Amino acid sequence: MELTGRLKLIADMTPKCNIVSDIGTDHAYIPIFLVKNNICTKAIASDVRIGPVNVATKNIEEYRVSDKVITRIGSGLESILDNEIDVVIIAGMGGMLIKELLEKSLDKVKKANALILQPMYAIEVVHEWLCENGFEVYDEALAKEDHKIYNVIACKWAGCNQKKDEIYYHIGEKLFEKRDPLLKKHLQNKIDQLDKIINQMENMKEKESIKKAEYLKLKKNLYNALNCL
Ligand SMILES: C[S@@+](CC[C@H](N)C(=O)[O-])C[C@H]1O[C@@H](n2cnc3c(N)ncnc32)[C@H](O)[C@@H]1O
Repeated sequence: MELTGRLKLIADMTPKCNIVSDIGTDHAYIPIFLVKNNICTKAIASDVRIGPVNVATKNIEEYRVSDKVITRIGSGLESILDNEIDVVIIAGMGGMLIKELLEKSLDKVKKANALILQPMYAIEVVHEWLCENGFEVYDEALAKEDHKIYNVIACKWAGCNQKKDEIYYHIGEKLFEKRDPLLKKHLQNKIDQLDKIINQMENMKEKESIKKAEYLKLKKNLYNALNCL
């Protein structure tokens, strides 16, 4: 089995470990790939809906890894036992949902040796929550697939709560430190998205104008960051 783009980056950023819990597994391609490539010994492919669990089961059988990948049904990390927590992957969901799932199982995620998170949007919500709850982002990278750029965050609880400049919630600090090859394009995309939102905010009420001012400030900071690369 070969993975490409977003899924490949998630697999590449997963450290060698004993058990991977893949939350919101759907097709289970990530856990199947990880056990097949000896990145983990065992994997739990968990999803909240029976439909995806059935698809996962079918794929697990097709790739002949039923002895190493087991399926569970449940929301977030509810389906994972305390003594099974090792590396946790939550990918392909919105940032708000990822934050909710982390918050609901805070004790479990604090014990994880690594959390690999891949929000499809609202990454700033995830970054801010991680900072405020003492998680350290030790790596972050971008992958391009079908003209879209995806973020993958690797983090771990370190116990030091902090606050960062807003720009680093939108564009992870590690991407600047590493000079990720897709960073320029990613910054430009963010600026373009903000431009669209700002243009749609014409004739807005006073409350919304505060939001517009915040967007304009963020756009300026992103633009300055782009010019410094
Ligand atoms: C778009 S798929 C992502 C699949 C895969 N993780 C990936 O990155 O390609 C999102 C999956 O998350 C599952 N999901 C949504 N809410 C969930 C929750 N609260 N707990 C577990 N899984 C959830 C959905 O059923 C769906 O299968």
